[in-house]
Amino acid sequence: MPTLALAPTPDGLNRAAGMLRAGDLVAFPTETVYGLGADARNDIAVARIFQAKGRPRFNPLIVHLPDLAAAREIAAFPDEALRLASAFWPGALTLVLPLKGTALSPLVTAGLDTVALRVPDHPVAHTLLETFGGPVAAPSANPSGKVSPTRAAHVLEGLSGRIEAVVDGGPCPVGVESTIIGFTPTPALLRPGGLPVEAIEACLGGALTRHAKGARPNAPGQLASHYAPAAAVRLGRTTPEPGDLWLGFGPTPGADLNLSESGDLVEAAANLFHHLRSLDARAAPGQGISVAPVPPHGLGHAINDRLRRAAAPR
Ligand code: TXA
Ligand code: MG
Repeated sequence: MPTLALAPTPDGLNRAAGMLRAGDLVAFPTETVYGLGADARNDIAVARIFQAKGRPRFNPLIVHLPDLAAAREIAAFPDEALRLASAFWPGALTLVLPLKGTALSPLVTAGLDTVALRVPDHPVAHTLLETFGGPVAAPSANPSGKVSPTRAAHVLEGLSGRIEAVVDGGPCPVGVESTIIGFTPTPALLRPGGLPVEAIEACLGGALTRHAKGARPNAPGQLASHYAPAAAVRLGRTTPEPGDLWLGFGPTPGADLNLSESGDLVEAAANLFHHLRSLDARAAPGQGISVAPVPPHGLGHAINDRLRRAAAPR
């Protein structure tokens, strides 16, 4: 697919918003780095973000909103979060907060019950978000493992042909990713970034909790805190364990649910958390979930990574 370069004009931004509505991937500038945007409520569009980036696992994504009022519809804000949002939004600050409601695709949060939110301080991002009128999930617009893009040309170098469009808004003024703060429940630094920690601590009137040395706070995909079913999960089953529920992939006669009957990995990723949750809810005490093999290529890496975590002893 050819990647369209759009100008940050009213016309270009209307077109970009329409593409987001249609489930397309649209990269756009923020003051930190270019984000790879998709409608955060659209399971398939969010799955395609991971496919385009070649991410080996489903790390949770940051959801971008035009203002605090829109953010408060998606997450609950403790007092300290409200204070930080009032002081630093729009800006290079991301807050990880308790998720409200079920509007977002569970892939955005990697099945967690918290969500990372940010109101970017960039006129192009702001107009796009207002015009689109919904939450936009956007990781940095680079292939996994490559540096974050701060120009539209960088986005095209890495992702041309893998995404539908990029809005060219010139160079990003900050040039490093946002600072991420979590509330667990006390404010904690999850990732240093474009907003200095000192400014945040001055606003809160106290020190932030920092992660212990050697921890990998910027890689929550590797933390044990991810969603895991209560039921035992058994992988690679071409026939189910007797008595188990069976989660299929590809043609799987007798499966209780199927990640994708046609064997489409994007569809399978989009269904993954929904299906795990509904089988987990259906499982009787002691009943397990057998999972059909998922091929180890493309999005299959991320799907298998998540399934292995779900199956790990705990
Ligand atoms: O400046 C930025 O933050 C850029 C622009 C595009 O906004 N975005 C960005 O996204 O850097 P990304 O996907 O590269 O980094 C998102 C990080 C995840 O790796 C994770 O560390 C954190 O946000 N994150 C997201 N949701 C989380 C959650 N529920 N709990 C903990 N951490 C979370
Ligand atoms: Mg990144």
